[in-house]
Amino acid sequence: MCGIFGIAYRTEAPLALGPVLRRALERLEYRGYDSVGVAVMTSANSESVQVYKDVGKVSEVVGKYSIDSLRGVAGVAHTRWATHGRPSKENAHPHVDCTGAVAVVHNGIIQNYAELRERLAAAGHTFRSETDTEVIPHLIEEYMKALPPWEAFREAIGQLRGAFAIVALIASEPHTLYFARRLSPLVVGVAEESAVVASDLPTVLDHTRRVIVLHDDEYGYTAPGEVHVERGGAPVDLASRVVEISWTADMASKEGYPHYMLKEIHEQPMALAGTLSGLDWDTLRAAAEALHNARHVYIVAAGTSLHAGHVMALGLARLGVKATPIVASEVHSVVGAVGEGDLGVAISQSGETIDTLVAVRALRGAGARVMAITNVVGSSVARESDIVIYTRAGPEVAVAATKTFTTQVLVVNALLHALAEAVGNGDIAHVGDNMQRVPHMVSRVLQLTEGPIRELSRAVAGRASAYYLGRGLGLPVAMEGALKLKEVAYIHAEAYPAGESKHGPIALVADGFPVIFVFLDREVEKALMGNVMEMRARDATTIGLIPPGASHLAELFDSYVEVPYLDPYNNVILYVVPLQLLAYYAAVHRGYDPDKPRNLAKTVTVE
Ligand code: F6R
Repeated sequence: MCGIFGIAYRTEAPLALGPVLRRALERLEYRGYDSVGVAVMTSANSESVQVYKDVGKVSEVVGKYSIDSLRGVAGVAHTRWATHGRPSKENAHPHVDCTGAVAVVHNGIIQNYAELRERLAAAGHTFRSETDTEVIPHLIEEYMKALPPWEAFREAIGQLRGAFAIVALIASEPHTLYFARRLSPLVVGVAEESAVVASDLPTVLDHTRRVIVLHDDEYGYTAPGEVHVERGGAPVDLASRVVEISWTADMASKEGYPHYMLKEIHEQPMALAGTLSGLDWDTLRAAAEALHNARHVYIVAAGTSLHAGHVMALGLARLGVKATPIVASEVHSVVGAVGEGDLGVAISQSGETIDTLVAVRALRGAGARVMAITNVVGSSVARESDIVIYTRAGPEVAVAATKTFTTQVLVVNALLHALAEAVGNGDIAHVGDNMQRVPHMVSRVLQLTEGPIRELSRAVAGRASAYYLGRGLGLPVAMEGALKLKEVAYIHAEAYPAGESKHGPIALVADGFPVIFVFLDREVEKALMGNVMEMRARDATTIGLIPPGASHLAELFDSYVEVPYLDPYNNVILYVVPLQLLAYYAAVHRGYDPDKPRNLAKTVTVE
């Protein structure tokens, strides 16, 4: 959803603030690109902020309003992913009060905005947008009639219901930023010469490596050299909350690749190696025991993370553990069956997806313990779970998940390995040995498949639809391939269990319709070969991902790409990589920017 940033300097003399705000906007663009805006205190004595905002990409809005040339002592910035109110200049953030002295940037949804707006309008406030956010500066303004800024901000926050991360700038306190967090992520930087708050860690890392990750329902203010946080009216002791972050801000830059998505696809060997070396086997063994002892395992996740959940459910079933993967936002339909003795597993790259967070709460509320698999240390899902396993893929900037999926699957495989050892099931014991080879094998996959896939993607890019078919562990890979193609190339793509394709989907197949088959498991090879023949008989264009040297498979396809073979579980990681590349190159051929798929946000923080 929206990206937010604020900075306030110690200095009284205006600085070159424009480039700082532009940099922050560029970093936050992946969070929403409906509109862009900044508000600036041009001098420490100004009575109001100056606002520049509009619909469009960061580069367009920055150019149109010469943001780069702005000077000042403090500023806030925002990239918007519309929830309340269509994308328009008026609805773009920052929003200001009637006097222009209070500027607010916000991520989330204020549920009770309609009643607040009515109350404030009745008190004489003039609203200029259709957004829920605009009530916040007016509310602060209203309280400032009787209270100093900090108290007024605190009172205003107390009135809000819903999910929010907020940064406010108030003209009478030009060196201070006010902030609040409920459900939406927010990070405060700790530095001597500036105060920094942002929705994303990399944006803060441009200014300081010392950060405080805010918890739910915390709010406060920060000025250079000072951070004050409260929760429920009481000050929060921050002594143990300041953490030193080793990620550099540059880890999140493109490093010469045309898009973050391609960079992150190529980063996978490194990300997987990092995940592998960071695995904490004590935690994994404890987690395996929890899985083993669970009456039933409910795996909740959304999108790509849910596909990793399907891999886990298949592995658990193999090991005799009853597990159900559930779309996180549908948890309500199973929660009646959940009770003590059950285990929830929440898989979330960001750890902030609201559907997954709500599912975690529902499962815990029903008596289950919850295990989290997440990439973001200190994220909400991590904090609210009983057992946490980190994927350590590093920051993922592209909206489409790539390296975070493969590292999730690696963690899932490590868990399955620990469980297989615990229950003495030799069936998937080799998964653990092969895991060590995965980073190197993914490098091989990239070397071997990128050229052929790039070629193949031309044909797919010209089609309106595609099917992805697999059996067993090939199915989550097919699902992930189809999701990627939809997301970035805007081609209608569906994944089916290959056997199911005969029960309806095959009706669409004629005249070169592309059907992509994932052959990653020898156990189901024969049945899958039959499905290829069925598609050929309907004039589909058949494309196969097949193990090297399998000539009996190669001859079935119009085109095929050979992918190194380890074992079905580790093959999930190897075989999804060419499908990530296929989606990426199809998007590029079609002239789309794969890093900014329309209508999508990196982290979905509204239900
Ligand atoms: C797909 C994608 C989304 C996310 C989903 C869950 O490329 O990025 O489908 O996987 O929104 O996000 P997390 O894993 O952060 O909970």
